[in-house]
Amino acid sequence: MRISVIGCGYLGAVHAASMAELGHEVVGIDVDERKIADLCAGRAPFYEPDFGELLQHSLASGRLSFSTDVADAAGAQVHFVCVGTPQKHGEYAADLRFVQAAAESLLQVIEPGELVVGKSTVPVGTAAELARMFGEKVPGSLLAWNPEFLREGFAVRDTLHPDRLVYGVPDGPDAETIVAVLDEVYAPIVATGTPKVVTDYATAEMVKTAANSFLATKISFINAMAELCEATGADVKQLADAIGFDDRIGRKFLNAGLGFGGGCLPKDIRGFMARAGELGADQALTFLREVDNINMRRRIRMVELAREVCDGSLLGKHIAVLGAAFKPDSDDIRDSPALNVAAQLQLQGAVVTVTDPAAIENSRRQWPQLDYAATPEEAAERADAVLVLTEWRQYRELDPVAFGEVVARKRVLDGRNALDREAWTAAGWTYRALGRRAG
Ligand code: UDX
Repeated sequence: MRISVIGCGYLGAVHAASMAELGHEVVGIDVDERKIADLCAGRAPFYEPDFGELLQHSLASGRLSFSTDVADAAGAQVHFVCVGTPQKHGEYAADLRFVQAAAESLLQVIEPGELVVGKSTVPVGTAAELARMFGEKVPGSLLAWNPEFLREGFAVRDTLHPDRLVYGVPDGPDAETIVAVLDEVYAPIVATGTPKVVTDYATAEMVKTAANSFLATKISFINAMAELCEATGADVKQLADAIGFDDRIGRKFLNAGLGFGGGCLPKDIRGFMARAGELGADQALTFLREVDNINMRRRIRMVELAREVCDGSLLGKHIAVLGAAFKPDSDDIRDSPALNVAAQLQLQGAVVTVTDPAAIENSRRQWPQLDYAATPEEAAERADAVLVLTEWRQYRELDPVAFGEVVARKRVLDGRNALDREAWTAAGWTYRALGRRAG
């Protein structure tokens, strides 16, 4: 099939290359010339395991191209909308500017019978609105909502092997046609028996925000338990293991620590609350405000813990921060809890050196006043405390004995409950973690 993908950010670029991998002829469109130049040259504009290879493979097949001109989307049977929906400045609501711009540019090229497929995370009601607009301006065009659930760090795997497909379709006779087109797009994925939910627009839109709200709630639940563990002397890691053995609860997303960040969870729960308010259903989601609060409190607590181990004062203390990305295997620093803590420490008088395997460049741009080092050893040279704030494999596997040689004081704060406490304490380190007793 001929496919266009509007928006070549994280989602769009991975989606375009993946669709080409499935055998389609794909053109990715974006207004950002630098991004398009990178993609055309086979360079991934962001860090994502497996994406570089997939991109090069798809380009070499001749089935994938990129362009800044939406006219190149003309003639495609399916047009995916993959633009970002960031949080509005100073408000909780999602900013739909890029979705509107994508829709307007598609109006220039779309023909009756062609299908527009929204993948962006949008407030419920957006798809119906867009369907009305396309129906009016290009009678006979079709619209579906097909949310994505990809995680950074696993984007390629999640796109090519999703755990479910959700098709939001309109009522009426077009539904069957749309389902058939989407089944053809995803034929190899459908053939493996991937569960599929065919539903209305509103449900499809809500599946995404509900899923992210549930995940955020699960993380904040265990972090609330961590607060209680700190008050009682209980151990949140063992607590998570023990409750996680219950199948109904499950151990995934019960890792207590610095909490969630990134470009999705924080803004999606806020956008969801804002939309619920507009719909007069804000009470239903007031608990998400608490989820957000618990999450933010963890960052403050981490700074307090650092102050505690630094004998009550951060002034002039040398602190090494291991990890800047919002999670491992990513160079994304959007709302990164790690960088947030690093910046707070710096603002409170500490001398902070940050290291990260992938996110230093992005971090330096946002926080030029922090010091940066290429390796944990460099960052920790003569440090009064080491904070592990993103659980990169490299940091989880650090040898506490050798690493102890470079620091001034062997104090480690495990912000992600990711280190082997016994090994670190055996090597003479003072070990502190959120929700666990001092080791
Ligand atoms: C998320 C959703 O998982 C994905 O389905 C959706 O499409 C986009 O948003 P992502 O933002 O890539 O994906 O990150 P995710 O792996 O969900 O992690 C989010 C944050 O939660 C990270 O900061 C991570 O460190 C934190 N987290 C995760 C925890 O603090 N504890 C956990 O147990 C799991």
